[in-house]
Amino acid sequence: MAILSSHQPSPKPEPQGNDLLSPEETPEEQAAVQPDEKLRPQRLADYIGQRELKEVLEIAIQATQSRGEALDHLLLYGPPGLGKTTMATILASEMGVGYKMTTAPSLERPRDIVGLLVSLKPGDVLFIDEIHRLSRMTEELLYPAMEDFRVDITIGKGKSARTRSLELQPFTLVGATTRVGALTSPLRDRFGLVQRLRFYEPEELTLIVERTAKLLDTPLTGDGATEIARRSRGTPRVANRLLKRVRDYAQVKAEGTVTAEVARSALELFNVDPMGLDWTDRRLLTVAIEQFGGGPVGLETIAATTGEDPQTIEEVYEPYLMQIGYLARTPRGRVATPAAWKHLGYDPPERQMSLF
Ligand code: ADE
Repeated sequence: MAILSSHQPSPKPEPQGNDLLSPEETPEEQAAVQPDEKLRPQRLADYIGQRELKEVLEIAIQATQSRGEALDHLLLYGPPGLGKTTMATILASEMGVGYKMTTAPSLERPRDIVGLLVSLKPGDVLFIDEIHRLSRMTEELLYPAMEDFRVDITIGKGKSARTRSLELQPFTLVGATTRVGALTSPLRDRFGLVQRLRFYEPEELTLIVERTAKLLDTPLTGDGATEIARRSRGTPRVANRLLKRVRDYAQVKAEGTVTAEVARSALELFNVDPMGLDWTDRRLLTVAIEQFGGGPVGLETIAATTGEDPQTIEEVYEPYLMQIGYLARTPRGRVATPAAWKHLGYDPPERQMSLF
């Protein structure tokens, strides 16, 4: 049974269809890569946040450049929207080499990956997004390519089939994934550098919002930037998307400047709550609280109850909810923390308080 405090309304499911807070790229964003390309930092020095990652890469770049080699293969993992693709493009520009990008699901046939590999020039960066989704055949073709810059192809069929080894130019494979645990160990072991991207601090997101506003020629006050940053769930992609919506709102409903007040009104209208939670976040927590007493409740059960895909819950929603301390994963299932109860207007019961 749900335990509702008296002074707060019960959070009711609202109509869905709000992509504003999704850390994943919306179909519109995927189609409109061009305009957003201008917002991507081009050099390491312009990349805000991920200090540790930048330091590791700076050292690797300098060392390999002085040896005249290609950079070691790099695996970037972490929640969506944190800048894995951006980092891959920066690496290519810092190394002064070419850049090719693809996604694992589009490399189904052996000829897809072979074609790409033989087209690479010395030192080029090949970026493969969602690398945990490679087909087995493609993955096996990648092993000698990564290790010895060689690809083994089969020519002909049946008895007359022969294998031939093609030599490749030394290249750098940058793989990106939201599910590092789903990679096979032979693939994972072939990356010399394995780095995780973390959620951004509010101060870093504020700087990113300010940088983007400048590029978009949008007047923005300091507290306007802070307000947007605070609601961006630690994710630059979300921050930039919210900024664009607030900019529209400021133009139509205010004097054009993004102030804290304008940001608050706009984001309220767009259903972005002060912690940056969206409809689905709130629904996941509400279901755990109302129907399962706050948990522990299994992922599959939450998924079945909310109609969400378990993998999406695990990869897209849970990381941020855990980061802000609203959700915990325990051996017996997911638990909504007392902070989550309070945020949604519920009084956490003693039993739940004592779990933390
Ligand atoms: N835009 C998106 N992500 C960024 C980052 N990490 N640094 C600077 N600008 C960005």
